[in-house]
Amino acid sequence: MKFGLKSIKEVENLQGKKVILRLDLNVPEENGQIKDDFRILKLLPVLDFLRENGAISLVISHLDAVGESLEPVAQYLNQKFPTTFFKDIFSEEVQQKMKSAENGEVILFENIRQYPEEEKNNEDFSKKIAALGDLYVNDAFPASHRKHASIIGVPKFLPHYAGIQFEKEIEHLSLHDNPERPFLFILGGAKFETKLPLIQKFLSKADKCFVAGALANDFFKAKGWEVGRSVISDIPFDRSILKNEKLILPTDVVVENGQGVEAKDASLIAVGDKIVDAGPKSLQQLRGLIKEAKLIIWNGPLGFYENGFNQPTLDLAKMIGGSVATSVIGGGDTIAAIETLGIQDKFTFVSTGGGAMLDFLLDETLPGIEALK
Ligand code: 3PG
Repeated sequence: MKFGLKSIKEVENLQGKKVILRLDLNVPEENGQIKDDFRILKLLPVLDFLRENGAISLVISHLDAVGESLEPVAQYLNQKFPTTFFKDIFSEEVQQKMKSAENGEVILFENIRQYPEEEKNNEDFSKKIAALGDLYVNDAFPASHRKHASIIGVPKFLPHYAGIQFEKEIEHLSLHDNPERPFLFILGGAKFETKLPLIQKFLSKADKCFVAGALANDFFKAKGWEVGRSVISDIPFDRSILKNEKLILPTDVVVENGQGVEAKDASLIAVGDKIVDAGPKSLQQLRGLIKEAKLIIWNGPLGFYENGFNQPTLDLAKMIGGSVATSVIGGGDTIAAIETLGIQDKFTFVSTGGGAMLDFLLDETLPGIEALK
């Protein structure tokens, strides 16, 4: 495997082995129900593999917020196979269970962020967790950009392996190393200040780099165009990037103003306009680029997806899904779009990572990968 990592599939005898399995079960919940099981479904292969090979899976995961509970996830998993849930990983109950657990059992612990030591990467905390297991597996790619105890601390104290989805993420997100060409990189969403280095990097790696969403607004402004009330970051950057012929910006956009919503050329924005989406001519531009491309990497929506400006993003998803190019896509809104359309299987690979996908594309590694080396 890339980076010389060892896969959990290489371990010969897992019978009765206690595996500290770090997963990313950080899924949206509402009233105790899971709203989107995309990430969980991608982690069933590693759980099935460990169960079938007689390992005892000790599953650790986080949820974004400290007070949130993984209990709904335990109930969800319990419908697939028996899953025991413990609220406190360090309780006497857990110690007892470690003595009686049967081969193939799955045990899930409550949100690891309930312990402040997790985010501080406290060494004693990592040691205490490691003491429960015989080996450690990271199948939490979306959390592997975090320098947290369960990602980089615990593997120091146990033989460590990459999980099944983790390996797939690395393989597919590395396809740009030696890309099929033309290679089209599409980046949308917001946060120009954090995504600018990625744009700069892919302007040299890709053949075309289409920058959309709020990210494009900073470029429009740098061209000297009016951007009205649109979201911009206003960070200073080297304007020579605008002369790079690989950089493609939307030719037209959808704006919201006192009159309602309308499409306009990006160079004709008025003071009262707020850019909220890509326009129809921009979609035509994308159609042409997608038709030619052999490799497409896409992350981030074309507009304010969560505010209902989603049609151009859905159209883009359909175009990429229908193309013959190798396609690697990811990001929360991007995944929401393909789930709305039910076209998950039309892409070569759908990454489970949001921030981790972007960090990996930029840095070509993650703290969680380094910890497994
Ligand atoms: C994600 O959803 O991006 C990962 O689960 C990481 O979550 P975090 O941003 O709360 O660390």
